[in-house]
This record gives sequence, structure tokens and C-alpha cells, in this order.
Amino acid sequence: MSAAQVRNPAVRRLADWPADRLRGLADEHGAPLYVLDLDRVRQNYRRTAEAFPEAEVYYAAKANTARPVLRALADEGAGIECASAGELARALSAGVPGERVHYTAVNPPARDLDVAVRLAEDHPGLTITVGAADTLDRLAERGYDGRVCLRVNPGVGAGHHEKVATGADAKFGVPYDRAADLLEGATEDFDVVGLHAHAGSGISGEDLSAHRELVARMGDLAREVEGRGVDLEFVDVGGGFGVPYSPDEGPLDLDAVAEATREALGEVDAALAVEPGRYLVADAGVLLTGVNTVKETPAGAVVGVGAGMTTLARPAIYDARHELRSLAPDADERPEREVTVAGPVCESADTFGVHRLPAPERGDLLAVGNAGAYGYEMASQYNSRPRPASVVLDGDDARLARRRETIADVTAVEPEDEL
Ligand code: LLP
Repeated sequence: MSAAQVRNPAVRRLADWPADRLRGLADEHGAPLYVLDLDRVRQNYRRTAEAFPEAEVYYAAKANTARPVLRALADEGAGIECASAGELARALSAGVPGERVHYTAVNPPARDLDVAVRLAEDHPGLTITVGAADTLDRLAERGYDGRVCLRVNPGVGAGHHEKVATGADAKFGVPYDRAADLLEGATEDFDVVGLHAHAGSGISGEDLSAHRELVARMGDLAREVEGRGVDLEFVDVGGGFGVPYSPDEGPLDLDAVAEATREALGEVDAALAVEPGRYLVADAGVLLTGVNTVKETPAGAVVGVGAGMTTLARPAIYDARHELRSLAPDADERPEREVTVAGPVCESADTFGVHRLPAPERGDLLAVGNAGAYGYEMASQYNSRPRPASVVLDGDDARLARRRETIADVTAVEPEDEL
């Protein structure tokens, strides 16, 4: 390993987290608790910026919108890619300059467009990425004539699960063959600044063929529109860089991805842009949860934990497997056993699956790995369960990014019953 890799390893494993500190945080804030280490977020950003020195890096905020994360990444020089009016409001109120904020509008609700156009008046550097011709009409109807980027359907998708392989899904982006004409036409009414495509989420380094194909197609398209005299600032080839969820899996070779990207893009005048979400935050976060019950059954032991599909939705939605670690102080002395770990929701989908763990006991604390991306963000209040707290670590400091919700928070939006 080189000195740089020692200082900034390509992956932080669940085993690398200090058990004492995590136990202390759970004692102080209770569980379930999301913990996110900003130093690791910064490391992940720096590794990305070093692999793509010529590119603009936009953080896909949907992976984790906690304000300290947006601030830390913006301070490192990242731009922020937003998926909604709410994310736009968060990025701008966190102090990210409008010039470094992109809003990728997917079938945007009118309310989102209203807010985006209003925010663009105060932050004229903001860029709106549209994926349908009539979104341009809807922007024009609102008097918008600012910066626009066109999202193209590259016809090639990839990802860790069919539910996140967006690239070939007609829902996303304008058809490739219509993109050049549409973009050229849009220059009459808007400041057209870029082209965009995104293949999907959780791309593995083993097969970069889909990524290469997407980038090559975007390079061809950029040359075509540049040939027609459209002056593009950037070609955004999306995010999707995968992280290892299993301890046996190696890290993504980001330099190889960057090399493949450069090669496939070829010569274009526009700058390259990438927009990773997961890669910057996944291994910077863990979810802590307590063991509530241990039940012996003819089908094996079932360990009931406090965090469920309302806390971390990924296993239920994508059959995602997250590594678990026992933080019991005597974990090393316990015999290992195979157990099913399940949450408190009355649905079979509410499970972390079968894991080999130091024999779990009631009152133990478990850590769930790679919880920094799409963890808190996808949490829900299903079952009228308040969402957990989330704590952010910055060196030796720890502060609440989100306090634990109460049942009063859950019911607060309901009008008082006057019947
Ligand atoms: N850009 C666009 C336009 C996207 O839609 C996404 C993710 C990204 C960038 C960032 O992708 P990333 O680098 O994080 O893979 N909830 C799912 C992931 C959904 C991703 C949606 N779009 C999960 O937990 O796996």
C-alpha cells in the first residue's frame, strides 16, 4: 500500500470503527442512531477529486442531505446535485453558491418548478437539468430563461439492482436521437450549458462496459452539438460509483473508472462532470441498533433489533445486504452463531437477513455497515414510528445532525380532531 493509500484507504471497513466510541454515542443519544464521520466523507471526496483532476465533482445529495455533510463537501470544493426543491433549498441554505448547484428535475411536480425558478432568481448561477421537452416549456411558462442542462437517455443502464438501473429506462432523459435537435432549439430560450446522463447506482468495477458505453455516447453527442455551434460548459456522466457492502469484496478501483471515462469521452471542449452520491458517504456511516429479543425457534435463532425497514429501507426494497458487527464489549470471547436479524415491523421484508455473529444477547449493541448512503434519507414513519437521531463526527467532536423524532413529531401535521 502506498503512503497515500494508508492516509486515505479506498474503503473503510465496519471492523475499523472504534467500538468504544460507538458504544459511548449510543449511551448518550440512544439507539437506533445513525453516525456519520465527516473526516471519512472528506477523504472520499479527495480520493474522487484526485482520480478525476480535470472534472467537476457534484455530490448527489439524495444519498445524505445532513447539513454538515453538504457544508463539508462544499468546503472541499464539491458542487451539489439536487433531486428536488427540498434538496435545492437545503443546499442553498447550507451556503453552497448557486453556481455549484444543479437541480436534476425528474417528472418535476409544479411545486418543485415554482420553487426552483424562484430560487434561481436569487441564485442565477443555478443549473436546471431537464429530462423531457415539455419541462422546458414548463420552465418558460414560469419566465425562466436561465441555465439549462439536458438529460439524455443513454440507452444503457447498470446498477446493483434492477430498481436502480436508470440509464435505459424511458422515464429518464430525452431519447438519445432527439437530444441534439432539442438542445440546439433550446438555445433560443435558455442558456444551454450542459449535457447529462446517469447509468444507474452501485456500478461495480468488474464490468465497466456499461459505463464506457454511456460515456462514449455522451462524447459523441457533445461533439455533435459542439459541431452545431452550441457552446457547452460541461458533460455530466452521472454517478453510480459502487462501494463494497461485503467484507470479502474489494474496493472500486476509482482510477480505473476515471481512466475508462477519459478514454471513452474522447476530445470535447466541455469539461467533464461526475456526480457520485453513495461513494462519498456510504462507508462514512454506521447505524447503531440494540438487541431487544433473542428468540430460539425450530428454524433457528431470531434476533430482534430496534432498527427496521423504517430505519434502513435498503434490505426491504433492494434485498440489499449490510454487514453487521457486534459491539458487545466481550464479543471476542463469545462463540459465533448463525442468526436471523430482524426489525420491529410486522412484514417479512423487515429483516437484515442471516448473519454469523458472536452469540447475540438481549441488550447488545450492533453496528450496521455502510449506512451513510441512502440510510437516514429513506427512513419513514411507517407504523407511526419516529425517525432515529443522527450524529455527525468531526474529529473528536460529535454533534446532532438530526434529533430523534418523538411521537408528537409524527402526529404534529394532523389537524386537531374537532368531531
Ligand atoms: N445522479 C443522478 C441523476 C441520480 O439519480 C443518482 C442516484 C446519482 C447521481 C447518484 O448515484 P450514486 O452515486 O449514489 O449511486 N436508493 C438507492 C439508490 C438510488 C439512486 C438514485 N439515483 C440505494 O439505496 O441503493
